[in-house]
Amino acid sequence: MRTCLLLLVALCALGVQGRALTQAPAPAPSPAEAEGPVSSSGAPLFTLAEVATHNSPDSAWIVVENNVYDVTEFAPTHPGGAGRIYSIAGTDATQKFMRQHGKPSMQWDLLQNYIIGELSTTS
Ligand code: HEM
Repeated sequence: MRTCLLLLVALCALGVQGRALTQAPAPAPSPAEAEGPVSSSGAPLFTLAEVATHNSPDSAWIVVENNVYDVTEFAPTHPGGAGRIYSIAGTDATQKFMRQHGKPSMQWDLLQNYIIGELSTTS
């Protein structure tokens, strides 16, 4: 009888553990996921017009190869000068970036830290 009880308790404990493992709560959607359009891969989509409004030291976004980057934090540390980054803020800087730094490069790798979404092709 006692063995039966012990067995029952052990089985219950396993059941609870199994549920805990398989029924983890769904993560809350991030603000970016909750608002605005997203690409088929789930990335936030921005129009070029939207990117164009982020053209100052307070908020500096750039487009490189159809990805949108927020380089506000990076700009003051740019070894080529913050002014170079501010002059391309709010624009598609693909050509300038590629001409100066290219890909693959350590600058390209660094840039990936600042990705915030993709450029919307349907304006
Ligand atoms: C987020 C990454 C970066 C972006 C978006 C970026 C972008 C640019 C752009 C647009 C220019 C100017 C191109 C032109 O005027 O035509 C430039 C110049 C330059 N960048 Fe960067 N850059 C990045 C990272 C870096 C890093 C990590 C370094 C150094 C290790 C670097 C060093 C330079 C230098 C030395 C110049 C040239 C300055 C001159 O001509 O006097 N950049 N960069």
